[in-house]
Order: sequence, then structure tokens, then C-alpha cells
Amino acid sequence: MEKTFLMLKPDAVQRGLIGEIIARFERKGFKLVGLKMLKLDREMAEVHYQEHKGKPFFESTIKYITSSPVVAMVWEGQNVIALARQMLGTTNPAEACPGSIRGSYAIDIGRNVIHGSDSLESAEREIKLYFREDEILSYYKTGEEWLS
Ligand code: RTP
Ligand code: MG
Repeated sequence: MEKTFLMLKPDAVQRGLIGEIIARFERKGFKLVGLKMLKLDREMAEVHYQEHKGKPFFESTIKYITSSPVVAMVWEGQNVIALARQMLGTTNPAEACPGSIRGSYAIDIGRNVIHGSDSLESAEREIKLYFREDEILSYYKTGEEWLS
């Protein structure tokens, strides 16, 4: 089954949005298979955002993502990579659909609450970066037979 990497950024943790955001993915029907809280150091943050090295927003993004703890998660489900990105909304909350996570909870591109893998390749890379294999669980979740 397809898996994606989602991360609640420091502002989500500080603003008390962890539960509300996780609840959205649970209600959608996705399955939480990995979860941890951690504080990123600069090295980890630079690897996470390696594709953006050299861009004007790189420094501020690294500073933001390392400023306070984050919640790292692996979610599983049919088409979860693309559907989770839709649920996140566009990168800039100012343009995000009002019902999306960024559209509901954020106003500024530099404080956009949540990260989500943007492709199968990124999902595989990011899951490996944050989780050991034995930290990702495989289990039956009640009701999953009603989802597809
Ligand atoms: P993310 O990786 O955090 O899920 O966000 P994303 O795919 O929607 O956007 P991406 O292009 O990967 O950008 C990564 C993060 O860098 C910050 N950013 N700032 N000021 C700017 O123009 C700008 N562009 C990007 C955002 O925090 C964005 O989430
Ligand atoms: Mg991205």
C-alpha cells in the first residue's frame, strides 16, 4: 500500500494544532503507521530541504523548521501521496483553498503548518530519512474494509 511522509511543522505544534490536523487524515480514511516527535538540527533540515539549497527562501525555511519540535508521520492508503497534498493545500496559504489545511490554519508561506511528500520518490526518500524500517508498523485497522 502507498505511503507518504507528513510532518507537522513547529508552528502547528506551538499553536496546538497537532490533534486537529491528525484527525483530518484519520477521518479521510488513511492509516497512521509511523509517528514521532523530534527537533530537527540544521544538518537534518538541510538534507530534508536539499532540493531548495541556494534558493532565496532556503535560510529562512531552515531556521523555521529547526526552531521548535515537529511531528513526523508516515501515513498509508490508496493514492495517499497525491490526496494528502490536496488536503495540505498550495504552498502559499494565501492561495490555498479555504477548506485545505493550509487554507484553514495558515496565512503566510513562511509558516505553512505542514509538510507533505510531493512524489513517490520524495516519499520514499523522506520516510527513510526520518524512520527506521522497524518504526513503521503494519497492522489491521478496524473498518479499513469499508474504504475501498
Ligand atoms: P513542503 O516541502 O514544506 O511540504 O512545502 P511545498 O512542497 O508545498 O513547497 P516547496 O516548494 O517544497 O517549499 C518548501 C518550503 O519552503 C518555504 N518556501 N518559501 N518564500 C517563498 O517563496 C517560499 N517558497 C517556499 C515554505 O515553507 C515551503 O513549505
Ligand atoms: Mg516540498
